[in-house]
Amino acid sequence: MAVKRLGSDSLKGGWRQGLAPKQLSVEWTEAVRKLFFEGTGEEYFAGSIHSLPVPEWDANFMLFDSEESTPASMRGVLWTTPFKEQTIRIVSFVLDEGARGKGWGSVVWNLMADILLPKGITTVQLEVRASNQRAIMFYRERGLEIQQELHGYYRQGMGYMMRGKLQHYHPNNDTPEHEE
Ligand SMILES: CC(C)(COP(=O)(O)OP(=O)(O)OC[C@H]1O[C@@H](n2cnc3c(N)ncnc32)[C@H](O)[C@@H]1OP(=O)(O)O)[C@@H](O)C(=O)NCCC(=O)NCCS
Repeated sequence: MAVKRLGSDSLKGGWRQGLAPKQLSVEWTEAVRKLFFEGTGEEYFAGSIHSLPVPEWDANFMLFDSEESTPASMRGVLWTTPFKEQTIRIVSFVLDEGARGKGWGSVVWNLMADILLPKGITTVQLEVRASNQRAIMFYRERGLEIQQELHGYYRQGMGYMMRGKLQHYHPNNDTPEHEE
């Protein structure tokens, strides 16, 4: 897949198709564990990462800050799973703190749509902490809406289930891309 370029500080990096949880070596698992802990405050154990319900497929992505796809250069993960007919669920979506707010989340959202729309996927669904205003805004802008409150889903605090139509999103429209 072509490396998407964005920002002069990351010319050689970008999102690439990523390993699934079950494919992670010890070193990869440690890098993901660290990313999840720093990114969300959630403490994962290696076993809980490996047992995340994510298949090996082309709608898993990893963000790298160099040409090399190594645990040390990994800066983000987007893991998805087929959920119901025509629906996918986002299982994990985390960027390293230093990689946020630079448009990388937006880039991978559109990459995900590129991969999934041709497969006939029309709907995207996920769970998010109710306190995570930034992520909720991100998803709202992309057409998702809160469908349900989740009590007891997160160890602390309430969550929301959000769902909406899977679609590309181009806020500035300076790189137009056709939609079908
Ligand atoms: C949520 C997340 C994946 C979004 O990715 P991102 O790369 O930071 O998002 P982008 O840079 O593409 O920006 C998305 C929007 O957030 C806005 N934004 C940028 N910096 C922001 C900030 N500091 N606070 C709030 N919003 C901000 C941007 O203006 C942008 O708006 P737009 O879509 O209208 O352009 C990422 O911030 C993240 O990993 N957060 C921590 C983990 C998390 O919460 N994951 C979601 C769990 S369900």
